[in-house]
Amino acid sequence: MKIGAKHYRSIWFNDAKQAVEIIDQRWLPHELRIVELKSLKDFASAIADMWVRGAPLIGATAAFGIAEQIKKDPSDASLNEAWEILHETRPTAINLRWALNDMRDLLKKMPEAKRAEIAHNRALEISDEDVECNRQIGLHGLEIIKKIAANKNPGEPVNILTHCNAGWLATVDWGTATSPIYHAVEAGIAVHIWVDETRPRNQGAQLTAWEMDSQGVPHHLIVDNAGGHLMQHGDVDMVIVGTDRTSAHGDVCNKIGTYLKALAAKDNNIPFYVALPSTTIDWTIKNGVLEIPIEERHSDEVTKVWGKLENGSLGAVQISPDGTPGSNPAFDVTPSRLVTGLITERGLCEASREGIAGLFPERVLD
Ligand code: MRU
Repeated sequence: MKIGAKHYRSIWFNDAKQAVEIIDQRWLPHELRIVELKSLKDFASAIADMWVRGAPLIGATAAFGIAEQIKKDPSDASLNEAWEILHETRPTAINLRWALNDMRDLLKKMPEAKRAEIAHNRALEISDEDVECNRQIGLHGLEIIKKIAANKNPGEPVNILTHCNAGWLATVDWGTATSPIYHAVEAGIAVHIWVDETRPRNQGAQLTAWEMDSQGVPHHLIVDNAGGHLMQHGDVDMVIVGTDRTSAHGDVCNKIGTYLKALAAKDNNIPFYVALPSTTIDWTIKNGVLEIPIEERHSDEVTKVWGKLENGSLGAVQISPDGTPGSNPAFDVTPSRLVTGLITERGLCEASREGIAGLFPERVLD
């Protein structure tokens, strides 16, 4: 997407510098900082400490991480070490394991002398595939928004609530949940976005609000607890969220708090959609609530809030007593029965084994 007049992806290979560059998301919305990732340690820190985040972007970053490591040492030992180190970084987003396995399985079959070039090209390809998947998700999601818009008074916006950041910053480009929104705007459909702040890391307040603002999409930032109230009063037409891992039977793991939005949407008969590339489906898991590992992050993220201070500098403020411990599960799982539909690159399906199998018949599901 564009920042000002310039088109950006969230990660790219800078040919002039022969280096992988990313937007370091820790500083948004206040500063646009671009950094080079040079070593395996850089790539691992970038994922673990959330310089980059969002399931598809975590996968793409890991692919580039393998490629950069293989340029330095193309041996099997180095490939296995890079796989292990990168796999350790974040446990929930399945795109990480998908990208690491894709790179490892491809490279292991290749002679060492050819691995650097093949790895580099495959990392670029994974990025391009993500962009195309998200574009397709946007086109399929657009059809849903069009139908809702057709039932509204002329000029009245479609009110869409979203949680966390499943925007272009969470992918290589377009985003998953935001791609239908960007496509709707391009198609001239009036939309208005309710942006959940998304404590504790505030990806909604810091990243989704910044995306909406930079792309000129009408929006309001709301506290995480406002969604249910807005739904009761007819102010939400649909919910679209992303996902870090969706089970083969349609249970959806996403940023903590998503489940509560799905419950409120169900109670108010509001459609709750999940937008995802198929690389986010964990084909080995049926029951998401029981089987998906939930990342537990540092309690500082709960007891402190990061932002721009009154003196203009960026920093954290503590919001709780010195002695209060924080607990920080980073994701929750929304059972498939609360999900109206999955918007994938191949189209819309029911969040169920049968629905997913219908779109992806080449996958053998239990
Ligand atoms: O902890 P984060 O910021 O990596 O969590 C991101 C999310 O929960 C997104 O909704 C999800 O990864 C989908 S991104 C297209």
